[in-house]
Amino acid sequence: MELVVGAPAHGGHCVARHEGQVVFVRHALPGERVIAEVTEEHKGYLRADAVEILEASPDRVPAPCPYARPDLCGGCDLQHASPRAQLEWKTAVLREQLQRLARLGSDVSVEALPGDGFGWRTRVRYRVAAAGYAGLLKHRSNEVVPIDRCLIAHPSIQELPVLARQWPDVDVIDVVKPSEGPAQVVSGQAVRERAAGREFELGASAFWQVHPDAADTLAATVVEFLRPEPHERAWDLYGGAGLFSAALGCSSVLVEASPEGAEAARRSLADLPVTVIESTVERALGLADARRGHAGRQPAAVGGRPRRDVRGHEALLHGQVDIVVLDPPRTGVGARVVKMIHEARPRAVAYVACDPAAFARDLRTFLDLGWKLGGIRAYDLFPQTHHFETVALLEAPGS
Ligand SMILES: C[S@@+](CC[C@H](N)C(=O)[O-])C[C@H]1O[C@@H](n2cnc3c(N)ncnc32)[C@H](O)[C@@H]1O
Repeated sequence: MELVVGAPAHGGHCVARHEGQVVFVRHALPGERVIAEVTEEHKGYLRADAVEILEASPDRVPAPCPYARPDLCGGCDLQHASPRAQLEWKTAVLREQLQRLARLGSDVSVEALPGDGFGWRTRVRYRVAAAGYAGLLKHRSNEVVPIDRCLIAHPSIQELPVLARQWPDVDVIDVVKPSEGPAQVVSGQAVRERAAGREFELGASAFWQVHPDAADTLAATVVEFLRPEPHERAWDLYGGAGLFSAALGCSSVLVEASPEGAEAARRSLADLPVTVIESTVERALGLADARRGHAGRQPAAVGGRPRRDVRGHEALLHGQVDIVVLDPPRTGVGARVVKMIHEARPRAVAYVACDPAAFARDLRTFLDLGWKLGGIRAYDLFPQTHHFETVALLEAPGS
């Protein structure tokens, strides 16, 4: 079908209309006239790939990677856009989500980090096809696309001979380029990372930010927003290996659901006044757990004291909390957790968001409870893809 492509939408595509139907078009830019091929039909909308560009946007550039094309690798959504156009795209998506879901006008802009937007990815999960070769997944598919190199991967990852050989016995290959030393295929061994002036030791499956400048950029923004005082008490929710607890410089309770993440925090922050609770945030706040899989696990806390089991919400809700960091996965925090935080009466919350839609919904819940948006920054921590990270300061009612 021939389409005139409209504005970008959340998810790496632009919106177009065809005979009254909404079409989400990948590999196109706003304003372009394209021939698009339908990839999925849904009730009320279609998904399509632009396969021929009839009138190109002045923002279009040739995608440097030969696999960033319709029907090939699904990793990069925006290689065909100039660096400036990528920032404008992400800025438009963020402002639109804030307007639509938080009912908030904002002039926030997504900011670039140093670098040319390639070679930044310090963690890559290659998939292995039944035929034994490693590659990356097609968009919205489990099909493994054979590639000879991923241009957004760190140069040291690109040099590893992972893609040139057969992998008969595995489904995934995790490769990490730690802060120091060369890239390595990881399976079980710990990895060392440096951020916020400290060293962290993590198991291969524990969460760590992917862009080499991400951890320091986000930690600096959180500290700048919250301005923690040494005597204050913090909650570091969805705390992972403890990046934000380390950066805050005050005492904190860190809640992390994954055993690997909680273990990494215990190991890495043992000298700090940080209590680590291995639990979902919901459970630690005394809410019924929304997530299966974590429902049966008893939270355990450690922090300067011998390890002992505690009921998570006792550890959290007893005592004063002054500041909270929220850094949830893409699903966001949810209204129940926002309300529990509101009831704990901290003076401020720093919300670190990897999904602008979930963030905007949670922000609306805070605003409805009388909180104010005190600051917002957004960073392009994932160049060539549609992803970015937002950090917001929320100030409590009356503060
Ligand atoms: C975006 S990461 C942030 C980690 C950490 N703040 C950092 O900057 O490295 C989100 C973390 O939340 C954890 N997580 C996911 N769902 C959770 C839940 N319901 N309760 C607690 N932790 C959760 C994940 O295991 C992951 O470590």
